[in-house]
Order: sequence, then C-alpha cells, then structure tokens
Amino acid sequence: MQKSTKQLTLAERDQKVVWHPFTQMKTAGPSIPIVRGKGTLLYDEAGNEYIDAIASWWMNSHGHSHPHIAARMNKQALTLEHVIFANFTHEPAVELAERLLEKLPENQARVFYSDNGSTSVEVGLKMCFQYWHNLGKQKTRIIAFEGAYHGDTFGAMSVGGRSAFSAPFAPFLFDVEFIPAPTPGLEAESLRQLTEKVADGNVAGFVFEPLVQGAAGMKMQKPEALEALVKVCKENHVLCIADEVMVGFGRTGKFFATDHIAYPPDIFCLSKGLTGGTVALGATTCSNEVFQAFYSDDKMKTLFHGHSCTANPLSCAAALASMDIFDKSETWDNIRRITTQHSAYGRKIQDHPLVENLRQCGVILAFDLRNSGETSYFNKQRDKIWNFFISRHVILRPLGNTIYVLPPYCITDGELQRVYKVIDELLNDLNGDL
Ligand SMILES: Cc1ncc(COP(=O)(O)O)c(C=O)c1O
Repeated sequence: MQKSTKQLTLAERDQKVVWHPFTQMKTAGPSIPIVRGKGTLLYDEAGNEYIDAIASWWMNSHGHSHPHIAARMNKQALTLEHVIFANFTHEPAVELAERLLEKLPENQARVFYSDNGSTSVEVGLKMCFQYWHNLGKQKTRIIAFEGAYHGDTFGAMSVGGRSAFSAPFAPFLFDVEFIPAPTPGLEAESLRQLTEKVADGNVAGFVFEPLVQGAAGMKMQKPEALEALVKVCKENHVLCIADEVMVGFGRTGKFFATDHIAYPPDIFCLSKGLTGGTVALGATTCSNEVFQAFYSDDKMKTLFHGHSCTANPLSCAAALASMDIFDKSETWDNIRRITTQHSAYGRKIQDHPLVENLRQCGVILAFDLRNSGETSYFNKQRDKIWNFFISRHVILRPLGNTIYVLPPYCITDGELQRVYKVIDELLNDLNGDL
C-alpha cells in the first residue's frame, strides 16, 4: 500500500516533487532534511546536528536564525512587506543604501537593488555596456578571468569561464576575452595579456572576483597582483566591475575584498553576506561618473532594468540587521580569531604529503588533495570526500579536489576544532586510500 503524504518523511516528499540546484536528481540520493538552525549548527529531522563549515554556499555571516535579524524582519513584516520600487521608496531601502555607501569607497555614489548575486552581476554588466552607449562610444569588449564564476543567468554565465556547467548554453553566451587570473606565478602573464587587450581603447569593462575565485576552487590572488590589473584598467578608461558577491562582508578580513587594493572599482556587485546570508537580495553600486551617464532629460538613457521584488523591505530589513551586527567589534574579533586559527591549522597540515597549494585569505582556508586523480568537480573522489565529512556531521563540500573551510563568523573555537579534526581524519584515512 502506498504511504500517504503524511506518512512520508520530509526527504521522501522532497524526492517526489522538488528539483534541486546543481544536482543530478537520479543519482544524488535523498536530500538531508533540515528542520532548524542555530548559530553554526543545523539540525535534521532525526535531531542530528551538523556544523555548517561552508556558511551554506558562502552565504551565512552571523549564524543561522539570528535573533536580531529575525526580530528586525518580523517588525518590518508587520509594517510593510513589499511595495513596487519604481515611483515608490521606503525607509529600509534608503537606510541600507546610506549605510552601504558609508562602508564602500568614497567614489561609490548610488545603490541599485536586485535580488541575488547573478542579477547583481547582470546589472553591473548592463551599467557598464550602457554607460558607454549613453556616452556615444563604441565600446563593447569585456575582459574576465579564466575559470571565473559570476552566476547562472545568461550575462553572468557569459562572463564566467567556459566549463561543463555552461556547455549546453555555449551558443547563447556573448563573447568575452579571458585572461589568466593573477594567481601566484601568473601575475606577470595576467598583466601582460590585460595590458595588450586594453591598448586599443575599446574595452568597455573588466569584471573580476577580487582576491578569491570561489567556484574555480578558492583560487587566490595577492592584492598587489590584482591592484596592478585595476591600475591598468583605470589608466585605459576601462570600467572595473568587482564581483564581491562571495568575498564581500568580511570574508577576506576587510569589509570588502577590494579594500585591500589602492584603486577603487567603478562598480560593485553585492549579495550573499549583504543580508548576513539570510534572505535573497542583490545590490549593484556605482560611482557618480557612471551614474551621471544615465542622469539625463533623455528617457532613452534610463537604466532599463528592474525586478518585481527589487529592494524588498523584508530583505532590506535583514540587511540592516546584519549591518548592525557588522558594526559590533565582536564580529571583527571573531573574523580575526578564525583567521588566526586557520593560519595555525594551515601551518600544521601544510607539509602533509596529501596537502598541496595550501592557501588562506581571511576566513577562507583551502588546499588541494594531492594524487586525487582527476581534478574536475565531477571526480569520484569528490563524492567520497563529501560522504566522509557528512557522515561525521560536518558540512564541507569540496570543489573537485579542493577542500575549503568558510564558516559563519560565530563559529566557536570548539566547533572549528571539530572541523579541523575531521579534515585530519580524512587526510589520515586517505593515506590508506579513502
Ligand atoms: C563570485 C560570485 N558571483 C556571483 C554568484 C551568484 O550568486 P547567486 O547564486 O546568488 O546568483 C556567486 C555564487 O556563488 C559567486 O560566488
């Protein structure tokens, strides 16, 4: 006899009706049914506790179900849940723009809202292309890093590195010129290629993940190397679009990753940590120079972009609550504490025979597993590693053969030690082949 919906577990009901992101539904097996979260911990239906050591896809800043964020959202929900953002405005959106601009470099002047990281990049690209269009200049070329990831909408996919993920859509992506990211050893080549490409003066923009390329496998650049590229762009009138979707909001030890370099980008793309990773919101900010190219009596110079949920008051309230928490010195003490502990742990494992390319930027610690065979996202060992960690109730989702830790800032010393311990166990187990 078939079970009624009521008799099925949450995971079983899910398997009947839901289609999960980046998931081969036939082989993936049931999803883990999470029923609540507190701090760094998530709890499943059976009461098992998991440490969220990757901040739920690099989103969560201050811990799950944070009472201050919940309270501000609740108050907002009972006041104004949503209003169209064309012809109308509201306090949370204005206050958030004011507070973001206080944190951003001085050259930033305006905040344009959307609803996720991909759309924040789409808006950044549109601002860039239309900036030149509005000025009557024929600049349409765009430069990005090889292996870049900027999201899954078509513009964001176009500026992302071509891979198995984008292969089905390749015919529909616009042309982009890719240069190597200036990772250690490639700084000079990256700079050489950029300098050569911008020389003829018709490059519209340069879009980049500053300091850390997340989905590429937590590949890191030194600030000086990125700074040299941004400097060349500035000298050659190329708009710099910093995709701070992953690295913004403290991940690199400063508020924004580009705070580590001397030249401020023209456009910032923000999401994830913008709401403390609690709800969907995107923001694209720009300099006054960019804004002025749209500010006109000519309606054709309008930025033609908008989403139904643009500047949703609940999302803005969550972002304001998150900003309150970022204003506390305790948050930055935590970021420094995690950074120091990562460094100590990194020193401990860096000479392990299976550890390669150990790297760290702020609270992001990563290394590659040596001798892991095929290094792609799809390799079999990746799935074994995932199973190894999840069976020990630690959420660490390797990117191919890259293992990384990127926790919420509220992770306790004890929880962090538990994360390091399961990595130790993995390295020891792998000696005897996983
Ligand atoms: C650097 C970067 N840009 C953009 C995105 C896309 O953000 P979203 O998944 O919210 O669309 C991501 C997501 O991981 C990202 O890491």
